[in-house]
Amino acid sequence: MPAMNAFYAQSGGVTAVINASACGVIETARKHRKQIKNVYAGRNGIIGALTEDMIDTNKESARNIAALKHTPGGAFGSARYKLGSIERNLAEYERLIEVFKAHNIGYFFYNGGNDSMDTAHKVSQVSKRMGFPVACLGIPKTVDNDLPITDNCPGFGSVAKYVAVSTREAALDVLSMAKTSTKVFILEVMGRHAGWIAAAGGVAGSAPGDAPHIILFPEIPFNKRAFLKRVRHCVEQYGYCVIVVSEGARYANNQFLAEVGTRDAFGHVQLGGVAPVVANIVSDNLGYKYHYAIADYLQRSARHIASAVDVEQAYAVGRAAVRFALQGKTAIMPIITRVSDKPYRWRIGEAPLSRIANREKMLPRRYISKDGFGITEAARRYLQPLMRGEDYPPYINGLPDYVSLRGASVAPLLKKKFVV
Ligand code: F6P
Repeated sequence: MPAMNAFYAQSGGVTAVINASACGVIETARKHRKQIKNVYAGRNGIIGALTEDMIDTNKESARNIAALKHTPGGAFGSARYKLGSIERNLAEYERLIEVFKAHNIGYFFYNGGNDSMDTAHKVSQVSKRMGFPVACLGIPKTVDNDLPITDNCPGFGSVAKYVAVSTREAALDVLSMAKTSTKVFILEVMGRHAGWIAAAGGVAGSAPGDAPHIILFPEIPFNKRAFLKRVRHCVEQYGYCVIVVSEGARYANNQFLAEVGTRDAFGHVQLGGVAPVVANIVSDNLGYKYHYAIADYLQRSARHIASAVDVEQAYAVGRAAVRFALQGKTAIMPIITRVSDKPYRWRIGEAPLSRIANREKMLPRRYISKDGFGITEAARRYLQPLMRGEDYPPYINGLPDYVSLRGASVAPLLKKKFVV
């Protein structure tokens, strides 16, 4: 088969290690020039393909591509842009294939979460139908850790580490002054529907009385009375109370504690600010002095404290996607399979996109303590290995030395412009 080009795009919320997957794709493709001539990266994700706005990665030095491995954010730009159903959005799918045809693109690597796996699956179907079959491979990525089948998702281990480290450090701060000052500290973490990130905060403590004293999961309906009782107990017993709350914490009627009333392009409810809501509940009912922090983008961009396991896995899924494609596979996603907990061993497997698309893996009940406010030993066994190891970026003058790519554009070939 003559050599073809590949298209790579980043999708959805970025992570501290999504660029490590890009690095895995590009470095591996470069080793197989006879099959993959060039990797074109979508500027701003899939929008770059639709508008024929692609970055020529052959114009990037080997050194810059290698530096992606330690650079957070999405180096090519990521997008929340859903193509939706084939029937309703056929024109967009057809445009995508037209662009792929024009640029001789035979491989499509889509680095994202549940929605993106759905898109990759649909592109594989449409391309076949249009007589220009493209190898479509998903590459897992989401800090939310909610993709099914894979044991975990690249991006999560580093957020988990950041949240556990921050909880442990902030707890020491609060404890030092609790006698005369702040008694309650609340850390808000991401995880729209699933409590994986909140659970990671639980790893900060190991003995009874250690922080965090309370975790509020999306999976457990918020019970104000039980919550306040627990806060009071912690302050009376330990002198302070550290709370990790998921942005997705909700009431029994499923309403988020922090719904702001808007939705994003994927139709997801926009969340934010659950920490002040919880802080007000504490202050209004118990009168304790509090501080709160919203980890927000700090948690998913914190490459300086990334988990070494996470970086390695993010690279490995990018590399595996290219290898699978070269073996003639399509409509699959590389997955991480856990072989053992102690010592932690994992390997790369594969799963059909049809079984991953649009499905969310919630935190299992057996990972949440009986009272609903903490994590179990089983959760700890699952979480700890994913946070393991440090992979510091290089530093210059005390700051991490992150790469900015040249970002040279591929010359457009189609007359027809496409507006998104
Ligand atoms: O999809 C991952 C995620 O980080 C969620 O945990 C969070 O709710 C969301 O992205 C934030 O999305 P955005 O950056 O588009 O506001």
